Amino acid sequence: MKKKIKIGLIVLLVALIGIQFIQIDKENPVSDDANDIFQRFEADQALIVKIKEACYDCHSNHAEWPWYTNVQPIGWWIKGHVNEARKKLNFSEFITYTDKKGKHKLEECIELVEEGEMPLKSFTWTHPEARLTDLERAAMVDWFKKQFASYN
Ligand code: HEC
Repeated sequence: MKKKIKIGLIVLLVALIGIQFIQIDKENPVSDDANDIFQRFEADQALIVKIKEACYDCHSNHAEWPWYTNVQPIGWWIKGHVNEARKKLNFSEFITYTDKKGKHKLEECIELVEEGEMPLKSFTWTHPEARLTDLERAAMVDWFKKQFASYN
């Protein structure tokens, strides 16, 4: 092997080992369950479970972190998703949203779930329980539509 390539590989290996020491913060934000979306809107238990399985690892204060989030840079990448997802829509804090904001977020839910953009493919790939059948997808969209319509 050429000397430069060898040095390059060693540097890469040392960097990969080095970044393992920079772990992500897995502590969920302190959260009052009284602010959860299901405190305002009723749903069948089965639908609640499905929404929690399909959305709550990113859009809530109750994320669960798989073992591979201990491996960097995978963990950084996933944490980035969760941060961004929570900032845009946090079901654990839905009650604190103004009506205008809540309504708009539900509208986005209808659109993105209907189009199959949510839950993210990279997530359902590793979380089979979060995959939606056509029926489950339709039921979820219907539910979001019903809640959207409940606003004045
Ligand atoms: C693996 C993480 C992940 C999962 C699981 C996930 N999302 Fe998202 N979601 C994101 C990220 C990241 C964004 C922001 C970037 C984007 O819009 O693509 C987002 C954006 C959204 C938005 C747009 C909010 C706005 O105001 O722009 C909606 C609505 C949404 N997700 C709904 C859902 C619903 C409903 C589910 C479950 C059926 C779900 N998501 C599952 C990561 C996730």
